[in-house]
Amino acid sequence: EKGGYEYFMLKEIAEQPQAIADTLLGRLSDRGEIILDEVRLTDQDLRDVDKVFIVACGTSYHAGMVAKYAIEHWVRIPCEVELASEFRYRDPILDRSTLVIVISQSGETMDTLMALRHAKEQKARVLAICNTNGSTIPRESDAVLYTHGGPEIAVASTKAFLTQLVACYLIGLHLAQIRGVMYADEVAAVVEKLQNTPDSLRTLLDGMEDVRALARDLRTASTILFIGRHVGFPVALEGALKLKELAYMHAEGFAAGELKHGPISLIDDGTPVVCIVPSPAGRGVMRDKVVSNIQEVRARGARTIVIAEEGDEGVAAFADHLITVPPTPTLLAPLMTTVPLQILACEIAAARGNDVDQPRNLAKSVTVE
Ligand code: M6R
Repeated sequence: EKGGYEYFMLKEIAEQPQAIADTLLGRLSDRGEIILDEVRLTDQDLRDVDKVFIVACGTSYHAGMVAKYAIEHWVRIPCEVELASEFRYRDPILDRSTLVIVISQSGETMDTLMALRHAKEQKARVLAICNTNGSTIPRESDAVLYTHGGPEIAVASTKAFLTQLVACYLIGLHLAQIRGVMYADEVAAVVEKLQNTPDSLRTLLDGMEDVRALARDLRTASTILFIGRHVGFPVALEGALKLKELAYMHAEGFAAGELKHGPISLIDDGTPVVCIVPSPAGRGVMRDKVVSNIQEVRARGARTIVIAEEGDEGVAAFADHLITVPPTPTLLAPLMTTVPLQILACEIAAARGNDVDQPRNLAKSVTVE
């Protein structure tokens, strides 16, 4: 049932290109327009939206953080992201014109369900992104966009995360299109890039042997830090979460720009720092900022593990270990940069003798608050 893989997690990582393709399937018209036919909100409802809240837990929350960058960039309406367990205990300002997007792989996470009910009580429209047909969260939502990732058995979320990202991109593009903020040809150009990601991901997955060797090397580290900017920031948080969850190691993700406001003092001789470098094509300034952050940590003794786009020659000089990913537009880059971090966590956990698919103290779906 593991299809020849040692762990479900490795099988699910390998299934990611197909999971992305399946989530895109049937959602695009011949003219490149996005059809979200499972979304039971009228175009007018969506045109009336003046604020978006994204609410989720754990890895699904990280997908929401990425979505914020895409939605604000494409749709030009304010978008807030919040942990479900926090959202429900404060007084968020919501009304009929607020769209609350809840993201949950299982559709049964209690914190997210309670946040959803809290939003509905205040008349907000609720749209669920979910991987499990007929589960509680989509049943209680006004509309649902299913990710077609297929069953995810390993406790660690992998293909669910990438398909959640795809669903968020589709919703962002759809909103931009029906609100007239993006022209059909602009949307079609992004969609074409999205459709290329499964192939890019297959290429990436074929070249991960180095990461396996690196994992064996890092298995005794006392901490691993992750830094990124923009959409690379949630990727850094996700890389750290995977490592904590699976390897039972201390790990932390930071916005690279925050280093000098405190965390840089954690860096000691040999501290591994995983650095997610933005594409030089999209926002060269941001890429250069991350490169100077890499130089800063390296000057203080860090061992740098750099994830950068193929062809970004300049980074090699600052990388103790370089992992390259296929070129991808900035907003879509987490579909690539997350994957080496999943493999790293999985392989470190295995090298430490942990149960990769069933880490201690955790359940696949968290149905208690
Ligand atoms: O089923 P959900 O997406 O609602 O689950 C949310 C989190 O519990 C989940 O993403 C968790 O953080 C993962 N096990 C992390 O890999």
